[in-house]
Amino acid sequence: MVDATGTRRADVLVEGDRVVAVGEDLGAGPGGVRRVLDAGGCLVCPGLVDLHAHLRQPGREEAETVETGARAAALGGYTAVVAMPNTEPPIDDAAVAREVLALGRGAVAEVTVAGAITRARAGELLAPMAELAALGVRLFTDDGAGVQDGALMRRALEYAGGLGVTLAQHCEDAVLAAGGCVHEGAWSSRLGLPGIPAAAEEVMVARDIALARLTGSRVHFLHLSTAGSVALVRAAREEGLPVTAEAAPHHFSLTDAEIAGYDPVFRVNPPLRQAGDVAAVRQGLADGTVQAVATDHAPHTPESKEVPFDQAPPGMLGLQTALPLTLEALGDRLSPAEVLALLSWQPAAIAGLLEGDRRPEGLSPHGGPVAPGATANLCVVDPAATWRLEVGHLASRSRNSPYLGRSLTGRARHTVLRGEPVVVDAEAQR
Ligand code: DOR
Repeated sequence: MVDATGTRRADVLVEGDRVVAVGEDLGAGPGGVRRVLDAGGCLVCPGLVDLHAHLRQPGREEAETVETGARAAALGGYTAVVAMPNTEPPIDDAAVAREVLALGRGAVAEVTVAGAITRARAGELLAPMAELAALGVRLFTDDGAGVQDGALMRRALEYAGGLGVTLAQHCEDAVLAAGGCVHEGAWSSRLGLPGIPAAAEEVMVARDIALARLTGSRVHFLHLSTAGSVALVRAAREEGLPVTAEAAPHHFSLTDAEIAGYDPVFRVNPPLRQAGDVAAVRQGLADGTVQAVATDHAPHTPESKEVPFDQAPPGMLGLQTALPLTLEALGDRLSPAEVLALLSWQPAAIAGLLEGDRRPEGLSPHGGPVAPGATANLCVVDPAATWRLEVGHLASRSRNSPYLGRSLTGRARHTVLRGEPVVVDAEAQR
């Protein structure tokens, strides 16, 4: 058993939606055990928590729904996900937030939402952040785009500080990035594809660090992709500024060499970078500069992706592959507990989903220690399971994973949501 308090060998007894006992050789318990989930050779941990999933509802249900995205999450070992607000309409007011939260009730993973920072994510007027915060929304982002106007970002941070919420920035200077679809480097030149320089991300990371210093408010950096960004965040944290960061599995597993075949499945934003960036992102995760692995699960329909590279929408699936990709990338230098911290309790803290945090109505705590009295949101990870990702495994409505057909090591064997086994032996139960 692995959680924020350490690692030990134990059985876990669950009754109703709660953990009721943790210890060796627990046996049947008073009423007798009704069901045993085999965790031999596995790690039992708090359910994984994703800070960054595009569930596409409302508006793009042909690509994903809250229900199908939640099923992909559960199969990936997640018990909670944060749905991004770049829906149609966007989650920039309480009515849309309430709708998405309602869609999440009854799903096989709990769904909370991030609110937009600006109305319609247009970067001009602030969204009604207080109204959203009153619903329990803890993260705000215009993800898909960065807030370009520094004065507006400053105001948003001042409000966020008062509300006790966190602004999550998609760091991309729109002018520097304009027209680009891949990393600007040797591959973009060779293939004749317009590039996005690393500086397009780094100037906004640097600006927002300065704004965190100015306002004292919290900034969370989404999907960091460059060595320069990691270095900036490391220095800011050493200074004691209230900044956190996440990285997506594709940014620490793949380089821009993948685009050689012009396959649009490799188009993501920020783009896949160079080997030195991949190494720096891994180093950032290993040394605590980057606190969370977040999927940036971005479903797109086959029709939308079967177009020339520069016309395809950016994004790839992530919920069902993040756990093995993280174990593969970091397993040689981090303990299983350290890897699971990046996937569960550290993102839970950033999302405000721990016990004691103010969560949206109906959401239970995630990421906390597995102890008597805790809500049984659990994942059983088989770190040695070797499997091949097939189309038939995908719960998502979309298919845009570059890992299809690839052999992966590490898998969620069981996922338990509020005491209910929703995934058993890597199969969804409903
Ligand atoms: O690759 C991406 N896809 N990056 C983003 O910022 C947005 C996302 C999407 O919504 O598809």
